Amino acid sequence: MKLRVDGLSVRFHLPGAEVHAVTDARFELREGRCLALVGESGCGKSVMAHALLGLLPGNATVTGHAWLDQDDALDPASEPAGGSLDLVAAPEKVLARQVRGRLVGLIPQSPAAHLTPVRTARAQLAETLRELGRTETPDLLARRAGLRPEDLDRYPHQLSGGMAQRVANALALAGDPPLIVADEPTTGLDRPLVDATMAELRRLCDEGRAVLVITHDLRAAERVADEIAVMYASRIVELSQAGPFFSGPLHPYARGLLDALPSRRFVPVPGRPPELTRLPDGCAFLPRCPLATAACEDQPLMNGKRVACHHA
Ligand SMILES: Nc1ncnc2c1ncn2[C@@H]1O[C@H](COP(=O)(O)OP(=O)(O)O)[C@@H](O)[C@H]1O
Ligand SMILES: [Mg+2]
Repeated sequence: MKLRVDGLSVRFHLPGAEVHAVTDARFELREGRCLALVGESGCGKSVMAHALLGLLPGNATVTGHAWLDQDDALDPASEPAGGSLDLVAAPEKVLARQVRGRLVGLIPQSPAAHLTPVRTARAQLAETLRELGRTETPDLLARRAGLRPEDLDRYPHQLSGGMAQRVANALALAGDPPLIVADEPTTGLDRPLVDATMAELRRLCDEGRAVLVITHDLRAAERVADEIAVMYASRIVELSQAGPFFSGPLHPYARGLLDALPSRRFVPVPGRPPELTRLPDGCAFLPRCPLATAACEDQPLMNGKRVACHHA
């Protein structure tokens, strides 16, 4: 299994404005590998995740491709030749029946809020298993996710943050999908739980799944990721193996993010990101960049390189 994101863009149409939420994203992710997508709040990370699952609202336009290459084809009647499915072009019926939960599992941002408040964890797991046509019991799934069966009798508001996280993991894994997308899975968790969640994602990866983890926590990303994609104002501006990235980020914004870590200089990147309704023609980081020159009025592109910057 391999995910190939190729020129993926998302625009939201609002009255009198257009939000450029994702612009020309390109990356690959294969089984056994973990890619961390990092960047400040509002840069387009969740929108990218939702685009892969066909979960965007009606005012969104998605262009480009997100190919899911499979080793063994799905239902031959609905499958294009070659076992490749374009998640962008796939009709809702295919996304609902074959993709969500079966090929791509989503661990959502703030899992507690995502659970139905009036139903127990067991009821929600049972329903998901039924929908997926799986024969496992909720108890088995719970144990695999590190929960005790009696935890499943709780309602979402009775779950601790760590338990809600585990229920969300169990739900995302119920259909044994080869690709897991985890959107800020550690928001609101304390450090030991962050570490446990990251270790769990790494284990899923080492078992042979592909994992896309979205986080603004670079320290968490460092624990789990093989590769790092840095997103700024809707674009991926650096795409690098984790080792070289953490020892020497190339993009000035990526350097700024690392310098902001308490374990490093603890100095935040000055300034604020631009509005995604009014992006400049050139580099969107220009007003915050220590290296900016006139050349930056032209949009720097990755073009197969590791970084989109005229000066890196
Ligand atoms: N349904 C929507 N309509 C208009 N704009 C949206 C919609 N959903 C998200 N956005 C905008 O898209 C941008 C990216 O959001 P998001 O992907 O959630 O950021 P983050 O990187 O924090 O996950 C934000 O500016 C957000 O306001
Ligand atoms: Mg988000």
